[in-house]
Amino acid sequence: MSMPRHLASQPPFPRTRLRRLRQAGWARSLVAEHALRPADLVQPFFVLEGHGRREPVPSLPGVERLSIDLLLLQVERCARLGIPMVALFPCTPAERKTVDGREAWNPDNLLCRAIRAIKKAVPEIGVMGDVALDPYTTTGQDGIVADGVILNDETIEALVRQALCQAAAGCDVIAPSDMMDGRVGAIRKALDEAGHAQAIIMAYAAKYASAFYGPFRDAIGSASALGKADKKTYQMDPANVREALREVALDIAEGADIVMVKPGLPYLDVVARVKEAFGVPTFAYHVSGEYAMVKAAAERGWLDGARCMEECLLAFKRAGADGILTYAALEVAERLARQG
Ligand code: PBG
Repeated sequence: MSMPRHLASQPPFPRTRLRRLRQAGWARSLVAEHALRPADLVQPFFVLEGHGRREPVPSLPGVERLSIDLLLLQVERCARLGIPMVALFPCTPAERKTVDGREAWNPDNLLCRAIRAIKKAVPEIGVMGDVALDPYTTTGQDGIVADGVILNDETIEALVRQALCQAAAGCDVIAPSDMMDGRVGAIRKALDEAGHAQAIIMAYAAKYASAFYGPFRDAIGSASALGKADKKTYQMDPANVREALREVALDIAEGADIVMVKPGLPYLDVVARVKEAFGVPTFAYHVSGEYAMVKAAAERGWLDGARCMEECLLAFKRAGADGILTYAALEVAERLARQG
C-alpha cells in the first residue's frame, strides 16, 4: 500500500511524536476515531413456546432461550439502554417442522406472536425477523430440498410467503438470511404489492458457509436436523471476496436498504470493502461462535471477557460497519451506561 500524501508530508521525529496524543485518557478520548454506542447494536433473542420459560444455551454462555413473556422484559431493557433493534429467532417445536418448512408462513407461529407482543408492549423498538426456512425444516436447511438439492426458485416462493407473514405481524426489518439467488427482489416486490412499502429489507448479502454458526444451530435446534450436511451450495465460500461484492451489488439492485456481512471478525476485510465500494448502510453479524470464543476463554480466566468483547465490537466500527448484531449488545450497553 502506498502512503497517502498527507501522511508522507508529516514532519519526521522528533517534531512528530505520536505518543503525545496518547499520554492520558482525556487526550486519547479527544482524538478517538471511533466509539461504540448502544445505538450501533442489535440484540438477537431466541424465542421459546410457553410461559415463564427460560433455557440456557450451553454453547452460548449468558444467552437464554426465552418464552414471549420473559422476552418482553429483556426487550424493554434494550429499549431503556438505547439499543434500537432486536432480532428474533424462534425455537420451533420438532412436531411443527416439515420438509417444506410451512410453519414459516403460519400467521400464528411463535415468531409472529413474539413480533406482535413486542410491537404492542415496546412499540418504540425496531424488530427484525430472519427470513430463511431453517428453524422450520426437518432437514435444517434454509431452503426446500428435493433429492438432496436445495431448490432456489421454489424456496423463493416460500420465503416471500414467510416475509409477508412477518410484515403483517408488524415486523419492521425483514432480513433474508437464506442466500437464495433473487430473493431480495421477489420479497421487495411482494411487500410493496401487499402495502408494506415501509418494511425495511436488511439483506444477509455476503453470508459465508461458516463453522462459526455452531452455537446458533444448537440454540434453535437445527444442528441435529442438519447432521453432517452443510450449506455450501448457497452460502459463500470463505475463500472469496470479489464474489461478496457481486452478491452485495445484486442485493442493492434488487432493493435491499441495508446490507450485511456475516460472520464478522474473520470477515472484516469484506466489511471494509463493501462499505468503501457501495457506501450504503452496512451491518455485520458478530455471530454465535465469535461470541462463544470470548466467553469460553473468559470463563477459564484466559481473557478479560468484557474488554475483549468491546475491543471486538469496536473493530467492527473501525472496519466501517454502521451496525453490529451481537449477543453481547445488552451487556455492552449496560457497561457503556455505567461509564456514563
Ligand atoms: C439461519 C441463520 C443462521 C444464523 C443467522 N440466521 C445460521 C445458519 O445459516 O446456519 C447464524 C447466526 C449466528 O451464528 O449467530 N439462516
